[in-house]
Amino acid sequence: MEPNFAALRREFPVLGRKTYLNSGSYCALANEVKAAVEQYLEDRLRVGADWDLWVAKNESVRSLTAALIGAAPEEISITASVSAGFNSLASALDFSGPRNKIVISDFEFPTAAQIWHAQERRGARVVHVPRAADGYIAASAFAAAIDENTQLVAITHVCFRNGAKLDIAGVVELARAKGAKVLLDCYQSVGSANVDVKALGVDFAAGGMLKYLLGTAGIGFLYVRDALVSSLVPANSGWFAQETIGSMDITANRPARSARRFEAGTPAVVNCYAAEAGLKMLLRVGIEPVEARIGELTANCMRRLREIDWASVTPTDDRRRGATVAVPTGDAARLVHELKDRDIVTSCRDDNVRAAFHFYNDHSDVEAFCAALRDLRDAFGPPPERC
Ligand SMILES: Cc1ncc(COP(=O)(O)O)c(C=O)c1O
Repeated sequence: MEPNFAALRREFPVLGRKTYLNSGSYCALANEVKAAVEQYLEDRLRVGADWDLWVAKNESVRSLTAALIGAAPEEISITASVSAGFNSLASALDFSGPRNKIVISDFEFPTAAQIWHAQERRGARVVHVPRAADGYIAASAFAAAIDENTQLVAITHVCFRNGAKLDIAGVVELARAKGAKVLLDCYQSVGSANVDVKALGVDFAAGGMLKYLLGTAGIGFLYVRDALVSSLVPANSGWFAQETIGSMDITANRPARSARRFEAGTPAVVNCYAAEAGLKMLLRVGIEPVEARIGELTANCMRRLREIDWASVTPTDDRRRGATVAVPTGDAARLVHELKDRDIVTSCRDDNVRAAFHFYNDHSDVEAFCAALRDLRDAFGPPPERC
C-alpha cells in the first residue's frame, strides 16, 4: 500500500508556509525530528548524565543506517561529516607503492576531490574523468582512467550540481577488473533512492544525515565492506575508535575490529537524537515508495520545464536522474532570491538553480516552481548559448 503522502506532508510544518525545494542542501524539519532534539534536552534536565543512553543513541543510528543501505552494523562508522569519513579512510590507505592512483569524476562535490588531492603529498596521483559533450559521464568514460595502478575509484552517485545519476554498477565492474576499490559518495542519493551497498558492489560508501535522511548537520556515516575492515588501520583515531572504548589505555592504539575504527571522539549526541528520528521515519515510509514518488515529481518537473521552454541541464533519461532538477540561468544567485521572495526555497550551484525533491513534496510544488520560472523567464531565462 502506498504511504499516505498527503498526511506525511503535514508532518513538515515549513511546507505550510513555503514551497520547499532545498532537500539537496538540507531537508525540511519533521515534527518528530524536532521532538527528538527536544527530548535530548529533556533527558539532560531529567537524568543529568546518562552515558549509556548516549552510547546507545550512537549505536541506534549505526543500526538504522546499516538497515537502510543493506549493510551490517559492524560495517558502519558514524562520523561527524562525509569529509571526516573520507579523511579517516584516506589515513588508512598507502600510496607509497605503484598502486597510487585515485580516479575521481568531474561530478564530485569539492570536499570529495580536495581530500584526494590532499593525499598527493603522501604519494597519491589523482586523475579526473571529465563529463562528455552531452553533460553526462557514462561508466565507459572511466575505462581509460582505471588501470592496474588504480587503488581507488572515488565517485559520487548523484552530482550535486546537475542531479545526474551515475551508473555505479558499471564503474564497479571496471574497477574490479583492474583490482581497484570503489568509494561511493552517496550523500545526494541516500534517502531519496535505494542505495544498497551490496547490490551495487562498492567497497566503501559515505553519506550524511542532513539531506534526504531527514536529520541534521554534524553527523554522517562511512560504510566499509566487512572483508576490508581488518586490513585498514586509520592513522586518524581516538578513544571511540578503540576495540574497548572505556579501556583508557594510553600505551597503544588498539582499533576496534569493526568499522567503528574509523570514528574518533565523543559522538555528537544531540545529532544522534535527530538522525535516529529521521532514519526511523524514512524506514517507516519505505525507500521504494520514496524513490518512486521523487521519480514522478522530477519527471513532472522536467516535463513542465519543457512546456515553459526552459531546458534543464539535468539528464532527461529517468535512470540518469537523482532528486535534483537544475535549470541554467544568467544570474543564479538573484534568481534564488526572486524565488525566495515568492516563498520558494531553492539553491544554486554554478550557473544553475537547483530544485531538489523529497517525498514530502507534491505536484503543487512543481507547479509553483515552474509558474514562478515562467513569470521570471524574460529576466532570468537560460542564456542562449546554454539552451
Ligand atoms: C555529494 C556530497 N558530498 C559531500 C558533501 C559534503 O559533506 P560534509 O559537509 O558532510 O563533509 C556534500 C554536501 O553538500 C555533498 O552534496
